[in-house]
Amino acid sequence: MTLQGKNILICVSGGIAAYKITYLVRDFIKKGAEVQVVMTPSAENFVSKLTLSTLSKKPVFSDFYCENGTWNNHVELALWADVILMAPCTANTLAKMVHGMCDNLVLATYMSAKCPVFIAPAMDLDMYQHPSTKQNLELAEDFGHHVIPAEFGELASGLSGQGRMAEPETISQIIEEFFNAKKTLAGKTVLITAGPTHEQIDPVRFIGNHSSGKMGFAIAEEAAKRGAKVILISGPSAENINHENIAVYRVKSAKEMFSKVFEFYENVDIAIASAAVADYAPKDIASEKIKKKEDFLTLDLVKNSDILKTMGEQKKHQFLVGFALETENEEENAKGKLLKKNLNMIVLNSLRDEGAGFQGSTNKIKILTSDSLLEFPLKSKKEVAKDLLNFVEEKMVK
Ligand code: PMT
Repeated sequence: MTLQGKNILICVSGGIAAYKITYLVRDFIKKGAEVQVVMTPSAENFVSKLTLSTLSKKPVFSDFYCENGTWNNHVELALWADVILMAPCTANTLAKMVHGMCDNLVLATYMSAKCPVFIAPAMDLDMYQHPSTKQNLELAEDFGHHVIPAEFGELASGLSGQGRMAEPETISQIIEEFFNAKKTLAGKTVLITAGPTHEQIDPVRFIGNHSSGKMGFAIAEEAAKRGAKVILISGPSAENINHENIAVYRVKSAKEMFSKVFEFYENVDIAIASAAVADYAPKDIASEKIKKKEDFLTLDLVKNSDILKTMGEQKKHQFLVGFALETENEEENAKGKLLKKNLNMIVLNSLRDEGAGFQGSTNKIKILTSDSLLEFPLKSKKEVAKDLLNFVEEKMVK
């Protein structure tokens, strides 16, 4: 692997890990990259401009103005970069980044960027665990940035825990993998359903379920990283995603999801149904809020169309992936759905497995085809998405 010809802009903020950036600059240069360093004023307390400019073979900027009275053009700096690395990224810089504050050259450069952004946070363990930091890192991921999690170990405060900036070798490897990643799904269009559906009862109530959308969004992100054009159709979900390859369509009910899916289905190469679609919807939607009167209330429900089954019936060239969420006779039920819905494969998750299914960031799956069963351990939903797409790619090649 190599970084030959890549322009890497490193934004250093004021933390003790700033001294490690010297190793990173040297490593990037050795691998053929051009490196430009920009620093916050407080980063200068931890590592000298002279050291970084000697290693990067370029002047290092930390101010909007140069000594000769000229202006450091943050827009040009940002547009020059193929990738921006915020490292070390302090709690302060992170908070300012995700809230649009722009009071130094690092932040102005970051805000002018159009290229991918990697963030290597570094702070003391209580700061790293603070809800505001967690929320800010989630926001950064929602913006489409790549967070390189802090590592565990001894911290400058003398405490021990998570908060150390990832080691320069780890950061360098992640950036290299990013540039050298094989676009194995380039030229393919992938349709993904995600999240729950909400079936309206009256103006204030609905029938829904616990799906958060996390599983489907993770698959969408992974497919986009592999170069696919992704059509993500999601029921009500708090998840966000921001990637140039992903078009997100938000729907509420199963009926709306059905219509949106069949706007695109004919022309997709792969369809993955991870949504938890309501099987039934109220027969009539009350126009006014239903008043509390009797001890019992009966709602008439009608069966929703099965989106995945219809996709199976209309299948031509598409590779069709279903999900099965089970609570008993898991494999038997999943196999039944695989056959009934004419799928190429089905991903089984069981609510009997701890850490699997709704809401959390992990899942435990089995992949079934008509003649195989593959079991995976509990993993993050991002890793599950990788396993799933690896399997799809392998089957599509055969
Ligand atoms: O969103 P998360 O919180 O991350 O949770 C992820 C998940 C648990 C929702 C996901 O992993 C999952 O299992 N999704 C499928 C849930 C489900 O509804 O399973 P099912 O066994 O009831 O449905 C079988 C398949 O038919 C599913 O692919 C479903 O999308 C599809 N279906 C079902 C009914 C219907 N009317 N239309 C459909 O397309």
